[in-house]
Amino acid sequence: MPDPMHFDAHAEIYDRARPPYPDALWIRLQEQGWLRRGTRVIELGAGTGQATGPMLQAGAAVTVVEPGEALADRLRRRWPEAAVHVATAESMPVPPATFDLAVAATAVHWFDLDVVLPKLHRALVPGGHFAVWRTVFGDPSVPVSPFRERVAAITARRGGEPPRRGPGELATEGWAAQLTESGHFVTIHIEEFHWTVEFRTDQIRDLFTTFSNWSAAEVEEAAQAADQFGGRVVEHYLTPLIVLERAAG
Ligand SMILES: C[S@@+](CC[C@H](N)C(=O)[O-])C[C@H]1O[C@@H](n2cnc3c(N)ncnc32)[C@H](O)[C@@H]1O
Repeated sequence: MPDPMHFDAHAEIYDRARPPYPDALWIRLQEQGWLRRGTRVIELGAGTGQATGPMLQAGAAVTVVEPGEALADRLRRRWPEAAVHVATAESMPVPPATFDLAVAATAVHWFDLDVVLPKLHRALVPGGHFAVWRTVFGDPSVPVSPFRERVAAITARRGGEPPRRGPGELATEGWAAQLTESGHFVTIHIEEFHWTVEFRTDQIRDLFTTFSNWSAAEVEEAAQAADQFGGRVVEHYLTPLIVLERAAG
């Protein structure tokens, strides 16, 4: 089973290696009015603040819940305006009807939704929203690059991925179904954002080190592959967004 504390053990690398979310995602959240100046946000599984920063810059008041001490410490130092709680989404006590928006950025697959969904339903105001998105590191709609072929060859040798919570990372409709089946939320928006980022070999080494299912030897192999392709690779990523509305009652 992947270890959720993997990120905390690599907090410094996580902080510098994970690419920011695409501008188009932030534009959509703001133009729809889900994120605006004064929005009270609770963000679960915030890491070192990859999503926290842009929300603060949009004028939101952000409370973050992050179980990793080292991750939370970095987030606190970088974004002192955020209210930081070192806790899991499951254990964090939240007062009722306090937040307009809940956010889980590349994190919802770590949560026990039987516990977290009723908790968020209580924590949100009537008409509040829960925005869930993630980065899929490899956009399946783009032709496979030589570097991606090498990455696929590395992961293919594992003989089956370890089990994870919930549907696969590309099963966006499956996630929407899972997030709504308890009746606490209804889906109001699904969208996919396609984006591109170029990495040097050292950045590939850092980024792959942050993946909870990659061994150090596999990371080194990916870095060597990047080197063989000239020390720079262009990666195509996908960010599916699901926006849910709190169900009445
Ligand atoms: C892949 S990282 C995403 C971090 C950040 N939100 C981002 O966008 O890069 C997953 C995060 O979820 C956190 N996490 C794992 N289990 C959790 C739980 N039960 N409750 C809250 N956060 C959790 C991890 O510590 C980690 O920071």
